[in-house]
Amino acid sequence: MIYNLSEIEHIAKTIISSSKSNILLFYGEMGAGKTTLVKSLAKELGVQETASSPTFSIVNEYISDNNKVLYHFDFYRLEKEEEALDLGFEEYLTQGDWIFIEWPEKITSFLPLNAQKITITTISADKRQLTLH
Ligand SMILES: Nc1ncnc2c1ncn2[C@@H]1O[C@H](COP(=O)(O)OP(=O)(O)OP(=O)(O)O)[C@@H](O)[C@H]1O
Ligand SMILES: [Mg+2]
Repeated sequence: MIYNLSEIEHIAKTIISSSKSNILLFYGEMGAGKTTLVKSLAKELGVQETASSPTFSIVNEYISDNNKVLYHFDFYRLEKEEEALDLGFEEYLTQGDWIFIEWPEKITSFLPLNAQKITITTISADKRQLTLH
């Protein structure tokens, strides 16, 4: 699927209805649009506003208007996989909440095999290609 920002809401809806898992892994280079898509997904799931950006912390917790919990991880700054364990990463995975992970490449040992992988590729300044796999 190719999309621009005006179509991102539709893309978010499609992802939510077709995801094979509550755990979503976002692959794509810097600036591909991972955070932008996660924010759109959070909005689609009823999150009113995002408190802080995970640029400054590894995990952010969002609460939707019907009290569903969403976790947004950004592992870009992780230096060693083991740091994820210090955050209690494995416990998060077992709760059944929505979990969105940027830079999953940084924690390959701890990724659930059946998670939904999403790759975003830059096509042009405003167009992105999305692959679910
Ligand atoms: N179709 C699109 N989807 C997503 N972002 C787009 C699109 N078109 C343009 N953009 C722009 O591309 C940028 C994507 O930035 P974003 O922070 O989402 O990337 P990222 O993949 O999270 O990067 P990082 O790896 O640094 O966290 C934003 O400035 C956004 O406005
Ligand atoms: Mg990002």
